[in-house]
Amino acid sequence: MIKNRFLLGIQSSGNIHIGNILSVIIPTIELSNDNDKEVLAFIADLHTLTTLKDKHEIEENVLYTTAILLACGLDPKKVILYQQSQIEEVCKFSWELSCLAPYPMLANAHAFKDKAQNLADVNVGLFTYPILMAADILIVNANCVIVGKDQKQHIEIARDIAHSYNKINDRKLIIPEPYILKDVDLIPGTDGRKMSKSYKNGIDIFADDDTLRKQIFSIRTDSKGEREVKNPDTCIVFKIYSCIAEKGEIDVMRDKYIRGAIGYKEAKEVLLELILARFKNAREKFNEIKNEKEYLRKILHDGSQKVQTIICDR
Ligand code: TRP
Repeated sequence: MIKNRFLLGIQSSGNIHIGNILSVIIPTIELSNDNDKEVLAFIADLHTLTTLKDKHEIEENVLYTTAILLACGLDPKKVILYQQSQIEEVCKFSWELSCLAPYPMLANAHAFKDKAQNLADVNVGLFTYPILMAADILIVNANCVIVGKDQKQHIEIARDIAHSYNKINDRKLIIPEPYILKDVDLIPGTDGRKMSKSYKNGIDIFADDDTLRKQIFSIRTDSKGEREVKNPDTCIVFKIYSCIAEKGEIDVMRDKYIRGAIGYKEAKEVLLELILARFKNAREKFNEIKNEKEYLRKILHDGSQKVQTIICDR
């Protein structure tokens, strides 16, 4: 049976919040429970170098991200979990691909144009970012690349480069398809903007109890009193609650808002309790393994060895 090969790449910038977990990590783990799918997931530490320069910090983030993936239930027997920089062939292949990529295609990529306008450090790595990403994908012959909408253009670039490669080489690369995740960015940050490390508005379910409580109690609300009628559809606490709770629970909460039967303080308390309950096992597992550096490194190392066999089989 030929399996569909899915690939997920996650940067190691230390920015994993509840939004990433619900919309990227958990759906990927669910895919891996399907017998006709093969799932590869890697930590894109080389891509992280475009924005983070401290190698020690990146390495810490690699292990932190690995611990989160495992804590969320990723089973390394089912998912090949590895670290990008351990696959040395990727950089060589990336160079080969860069010689097939037309300059204007990269210069016009919207993610690059956006970064070039907004970042102080516009380095060449940001420019060639999509080529390294194409190398990640094409070197393992992934058919489906798990990404948010914002990465769709990067997959188109990988496809274009693969077509150019196939025209001149006997060995053919698989043309990858994007597997676009829904609901990415659906969960707002504590201030109502997109949840992002740079806005410091994230909810980190792996933080200690106190920090998590502070984050939840910092969610912005209007100044309506405890017994006033409230609009659930404009309330950030309610929006975040709706992304995690069951349908029945959401209906009950909505009804309380509309009847003026719940204050924001109580709503935040309910949200905190829900998060603590839903992620109880994951939080426990995270605390158990987060400092087990040798164990985490071994998992990444074993994953990299499995990837080597895929690369050799190409
Ligand atoms: N650019 C992706 C992101 O920021 C991360 C990434 C790097 C990736 N290489 C990849 C994702 C290859 C999928 C496949 O989200």
